[in-house]
Amino acid sequence: MIYTEIEYQSELYTKSLELRYKILRKPLGLRFTKEFLSDEMNNFHLAAIEDNEIRAVVLLKPMEDNIVKMRQFAVDSKYQHQGIGQKLTKLAEQFAGEKNYKKIVLHARKSAVGFYLNMNYTLISKEFLEVGLPHYEMEKILEK
Ligand SMILES: CC(C)(COP(=O)(O)OP(=O)(O)OC[C@H]1O[C@@H](n2cnc3c(N)ncnc32)[C@H](O)[C@@H]1OP(=O)(O)O)[C@@H](O)C(=O)NCCC(=O)NCCS
Repeated sequence: MIYTEIEYQSELYTKSLELRYKILRKPLGLRFTKEFLSDEMNNFHLAAIEDNEIRAVVLLKPMEDNIVKMRQFAVDSKYQHQGIGQKLTKLAEQFAGEKNYKKIVLHARKSAVGFYLNMNYTLISKEFLEVGLPHYEMEKILEK
């Protein structure tokens, strides 16, 4: 498995979009809009790749004050619970740290809160709804 950045609008990006649709959108009966996708042009796209296929993907969106937002985390169904998400999170943290971001924030689905707690993210909000699902805001300060 290779853990690396992928280029926006590359062939691997298209595959990563298909994976995000399958894991994050289709089960909710939702689609990606043009506006949603053009907004991620300035995001960093990180992925786990095997045999030229995307097994997992996550985006980092630059925010104000040296903060980056982790979003759109999706591991392909067959590959979940094998440590791939954990490794991709570590790559994202290293990547963000090297670019001098000081903190990662994210909106965790309630079902994934345990995963992020396991990766030492802290809960910083009450439950709220996003895409119709219960979510919590979480954060992690990046160590030097
Ligand atoms: C949530 C998700 C990103 C985690 O990635 P993953 O590759 O399946 O997770 P890992 O195998 O790396 O798990 C690492 C650790 O977290 C734990 N863990 C994984 N998913 C968990 C969950 N949903 N709740 C609690 N703990 C979880 C595992 O037990 C593991 O700990 P261990 O190795 O000590 O047993 C992935 O399962 C996924 O894409 N789920 C569907 C989409 C989704 O919910 N995305 C996140 C939206 S915020």
